[in-house]
Amino acid sequence: MVANAAAAGQPHWSSKAAFVLAAVGSAVGLGNLWRFPSEAGVNGGGAFVLIYILCVALIGAPLLLAETLIGRHGQRSTVASATLMARQSNASPAWAGLAVIGMIANYVILTFYSVVAGWVLYYIGTSGADVVRTIMAGQPFAGAYSHLSVEEVRGQMPALFASPLQMTLTHFVFAAATTFVVARGVKGGIEVAATWLMPTFFVLLVAITIYAGISGDFTAAVAFLFTPDFERALQPQVLNSALGQAFFSLSLGGGAMVAYGAYASRDTNLGQTSGIISAADTGVAIIAGLAIFPIVFSVGLTPDAGPTLMFQTLPAAFHSMPAGALVGLAFFVLVLFAALTSSVSLLEISTAYFVERFKISRAVVASLLGASLFLIGMVSVLSFNVWADHRPLAFLPGFENANWFDAFDGVTGKILLPLSGLITAVFVGWIADRKLVDGETGLAGGPLLPVWRFLIAWLCPIAVFLILLFGLFPQLIS
Ligand code: PHE
Repeated sequence: MVANAAAAGQPHWSSKAAFVLAAVGSAVGLGNLWRFPSEAGVNGGGAFVLIYILCVALIGAPLLLAETLIGRHGQRSTVASATLMARQSNASPAWAGLAVIGMIANYVILTFYSVVAGWVLYYIGTSGADVVRTIMAGQPFAGAYSHLSVEEVRGQMPALFASPLQMTLTHFVFAAATTFVVARGVKGGIEVAATWLMPTFFVLLVAITIYAGISGDFTAAVAFLFTPDFERALQPQVLNSALGQAFFSLSLGGGAMVAYGAYASRDTNLGQTSGIISAADTGVAIIAGLAIFPIVFSVGLTPDAGPTLMFQTLPAAFHSMPAGALVGLAFFVLVLFAALTSSVSLLEISTAYFVERFKISRAVVASLLGASLFLIGMVSVLSFNVWADHRPLAFLPGFENANWFDAFDGVTGKILLPLSGLITAVFVGWIADRKLVDGETGLAGGPLLPVWRFLIAWLCPIAVFLILLFGLFPQLIS
């Protein structure tokens, strides 16, 4: 294997565990807690979950290994690592174009991710105030917002969306927090955040799931999540959503895992860590479903609310649950922690690139990128109110009703991430030097190497291509 010297000043994680924790921190985020339950809810529950798990196991996990190995081999930013691997494989450095598409896609994701995380902050604010109120009233175990009617609780979300000012404020605070962590560096910022926030996150998640199991309708949730309707599972739209969700949730396609892999030490077994990260991320998504749906079903609400599930349905459910105020607050804190450890990975990709390219200090680069992400995110903020009837991509099939926010989410999640993942699979499976790649996998000599080779060279490109094609043009098969 050709080993590269790390670029001068290249930071590293302090241990293998730190790498895994940071990568799980990147993977586990709004994708698991907000997007997964909402996608599962609108795509028929069990059908979606089944396809999703297949997408993770057969496409996501192999690609995760491909991405981390590009980074670890290069020990540089995503673009430079891809260029280096192309050069050492006697391939055109134009292949690094994949890293550029990915970097842009992830930066765009960050702009709306911060807006959604801002909603989470808003709910932390209102539920925090609510907890103070219930404690002062001597009823700490009251339901959430017990002084309001259910309609008023549900009304909080439309009220928030109607207020550009509120959304701007919370979006600003979240973007600033992300910038702060990234500016402090890989070890001193990202790793520290992951080491503190992720364990707290897991404890809270388990506690809330147990609570949901005891006081919610667990049986209905299990039936909903695990009874697949096979006719439904094979619809192109379900396939496309599940694949897009797998990419989004595992932080794939954009280079976040290339960037984090670049800080991993040579003795990290990437085959093994890819398995751990994929399993942890999927486990969290399913546990999140088992925390959210029992609560939703127990009060007779429906699972198919879509993106408003977490911000409208769930608070309404907490309204009539015992200790709903406290649990509601804990829930939104948990979501915030998960979101922050993901958003820092989104910002790290472009920060590392500009630091390396222009030799400017990390703090300056992170601040500039943070400021511009705040500004671009304003487009998403305004798409809920002032620009609510803008349909920027109405000419594209499937985007007829998409506002700016939906357009950013849809184009990145359903098109750019899978597309860049497709190119990554072709690059690693066919173009890059085989010895070099195999030596980085940690699977050499074992039975999993040929399996991974088959998945990355054949199944990933073909499946991603077909799903992209039929997802975008469903009329081709109907
Ligand atoms: N995986 C993150 C989540 O589930 C989002 C993300 C996407 C992070 C792409 C980095 C890169 O919330």
